Amino acid sequence: MILGLETSCDETAAAVVTREGEIRANVVASQATLHAQFGGVVPEIASRRHLELVTPVVREALDEAGASLDDVELVAVTTGPGLIGALLVGLSAAKALAWGRGLPLASVDHLHGHVASLYLRPQPLEPPFLCLLATGGHTLLLDVRDHAGYRVAGTTVDDAAGEAFDKGARLLGLGYPGGAALDRLAADGDPEAFDFPVARLPELDFSFSGVKTALLYAVRVLDAGELERRRADLAASYQRAIVRALVERTRIAAEQLGHDRIAVVGGVAANTELRASLPEAALAPLELCTDNGAMIASAARYVTALDPPAFLDLDAYAAA
Ligand code: KG4
Ligand code: ZN
Repeated sequence: MILGLETSCDETAAAVVTREGEIRANVVASQATLHAQFGGVVPEIASRRHLELVTPVVREALDEAGASLDDVELVAVTTGPGLIGALLVGLSAAKALAWGRGLPLASVDHLHGHVASLYLRPQPLEPPFLCLLATGGHTLLLDVRDHAGYRVAGTTVDDAAGEAFDKGARLLGLGYPGGAALDRLAADGDPEAFDFPVARLPELDFSFSGVKTALLYAVRVLDAGELERRRADLAASYQRAIVRALVERTRIAAEQLGHDRIAVVGGVAANTELRASLPEAALAPLELCTDNGAMIASAARYVTALDPPAFLDLDAYAAA
């Protein structure tokens, strides 16, 4: 069994996954409420909380799997990209576990992890495919030809899609992180009520700063009562513009790169409208969209692990 650890942002996560890609346990301790009062993730607070949570979360994952460290044959951990202090907590814990047990350690790229959420049972996807990866930190179009990696075919030139959702949610008074709350509010609104811009950049890139500014201006001209009445319409129209941008570019990318299959992963893949707009796509299961340890353990199956003591030299990296 593979023990996968993920601490790149504000989720402390550990999972137990078999070599065949069966999830035995997937425990995620979200720190979202801890950071909500600050309107975003505070890196230093995240690191400290990871430190408190990482051992209990690993223990809970093993318990849930009905396993002990004796059953673990490989430790996997996210080494980047992410918050450097947060990553170092997971990496240090993983090194200690692997060293103490004489086990190999696999260093996993967080984005590869999101893609590998598609390789888990019961419905593992086989490459090749075009993958839209949309999270709070990234919006990427990935050309996936094999399990071991990907090639970046498009990216955002400014905000990530999840970031746009979060900033929009904040403007609508929905708290942090507001993507899921905006999604719920949008269900009661009219997506055609406001005409928000969909950026169409050359090549396969995205831009979400314009739509965010457009929402800001739309909110500004409304008085408090009017804003309250139109909140759902604003949310629905804003979501429509973001989803339209994602879907358009994804379809164009698939065609350009000759892929007849599309997959969507990452936190934003949980969005109701995005899921409905790509009915033909392979969508990461809801519980595997946001950060988790199972996707990291899954990716580790396609990474060359390091034996002790070689892995002690591994370091975390903030940006890809
Ligand atoms: O993948 P993830 O957990 O963390 C990163 O690697 O960034 O993604 C988190 C992002 C946040 O921006 C969150 O607001 C967004 O995913 N998100 C959503 C939904 N659920 C989570 N955005 C839109 N609709 C949702 N239902
Ligand atoms: Zn992520």
